[in-house]
Amino acid sequence: MIRSIQGAQRLDSRGHPPVQVDLATDRGTFRAIVPSGAFTGAKEAIELRDGDSPAYGGKGVQKAVTNIRLVISPALVQSGLKVDTDQKMIDCLLKHLDGTENKSKLGANAILGVSMACARAGAAHLGIPLYEFLRRESGAKKPFVMPVPFFNIINGGVHSGNKMGFQETMIAPVGASSFTQAIRMGCEVYQQLKKVIVEKFGPSAIGIGDEGGFAPPISQPHEALDLLVEAVSLAEYTGRVKFALDPASTEFYSDGIYDIGFKDDKPSLQKQKHLTDLYRSLLQNYPIVSLEDPFAETDWASWAEFNKECPVELVGDDLLATNSEYVQKANDTRACNSMLLKINQIGAISEYLIIIHRANLAYSFDWSVFVSHRSGETTDDFIADLAVALRTGHLKSGAPCRGERVAKYNRLMDIEADLLGKGEECLYAGPQFRVASKY
Ligand code: PGA
Ligand code: ZN
Repeated sequence: MIRSIQGAQRLDSRGHPPVQVDLATDRGTFRAIVPSGAFTGAKEAIELRDGDSPAYGGKGVQKAVTNIRLVISPALVQSGLKVDTDQKMIDCLLKHLDGTENKSKLGANAILGVSMACARAGAAHLGIPLYEFLRRESGAKKPFVMPVPFFNIINGGVHSGNKMGFQETMIAPVGASSFTQAIRMGCEVYQQLKKVIVEKFGPSAIGIGDEGGFAPPISQPHEALDLLVEAVSLAEYTGRVKFALDPASTEFYSDGIYDIGFKDDKPSLQKQKHLTDLYRSLLQNYPIVSLEDPFAETDWASWAEFNKECPVELVGDDLLATNSEYVQKANDTRACNSMLLKINQIGAISEYLIIIHRANLAYSFDWSVFVSHRSGETTDDFIADLAVALRTGHLKSGAPCRGERVAKYNRLMDIEADLLGKGEECLYAGPQFRVASKY
């Protein structure tokens, strides 16, 4: 039985306030903190910020906190709904209390925080780990599959102060034999990359961006990928570590033109109508296995054209905003073959579990699902359990650096140890990360 729910304004990794929720039951208090993106796609559910208030430059979340106290807490306490059995009904009530399509009344941040805290409480009441609770909720099968960690080790776009237009250049240790070994490989490459950057650009170039990756003075995708090739080779993992890109291209698209030089002070010489040739040449020259948001969230035609002959995972982030309507549209138009799952893009837990399993969307299209953190994070590690529960086969949580990024990787190592200790079958997705749900 839920006794009370309290919201509070705390801090995220960028120094902006997220919503923190403490949900009290007769068994204890269960906490969740909601992450936040730098760039919020137009299709995302609304994160309620105080806006007109001068506190935190308008980024405060007191309105959302007040909504938890005045609206959500009394309604959930009175409802008598139980955390161990009623997650879907709790999420339904939250949606109903808000009453808008995009969660703009109570705030997706208020709703998600409460939904996450309920799941944590539910797991505790049943005496099971959160990953098992979420697995049961989603209807996912066993065995558990540990995800390949995609480490964003070169930061660009709106996540860093260098001239790099592409937001994320990632490494994926698909050739590891376990999640824990993948972490070791990722860390060793990261440390080699640091040495390479110091050698090429001097010690002042090892500053990091919002997701813990380095932000050296480069601007072109091939420069970032060349640095990765060298670091992987120095770490002696060539062939076992693959690459992934998230250009986050909506940020440099306007009036039908992409400008990957958008962070240059001078007038950019890099404006182009089509980025297709650039991506084709990158895919040919580097071991890239995943490409996220190569085209803008409104440029559906380019997505569909590229997907006709796309040899790698093509992930919709801003394109889909973890929203079933756009997931359906993208399948109808053959726009992509994978969906990024960001828990705060939609709002309540049951909604994204529905997108993936129950309504036969993402997985039934033979798409992959890629669990993601946000650039504004806290040490809340909910998404680690989620990736294992849903057998998504991969997860991105930034570089192996900064507390809010490593919290998820540490939790995943705990989960792997926990499963092995219990003698549960526990596979590492490895090169099969796109089809891990089919194990
Ligand atoms: P965001 O970045 O959290 O700032 O949106 C992450 C991503 O684009 O994948
Ligand atoms: Zn993205």
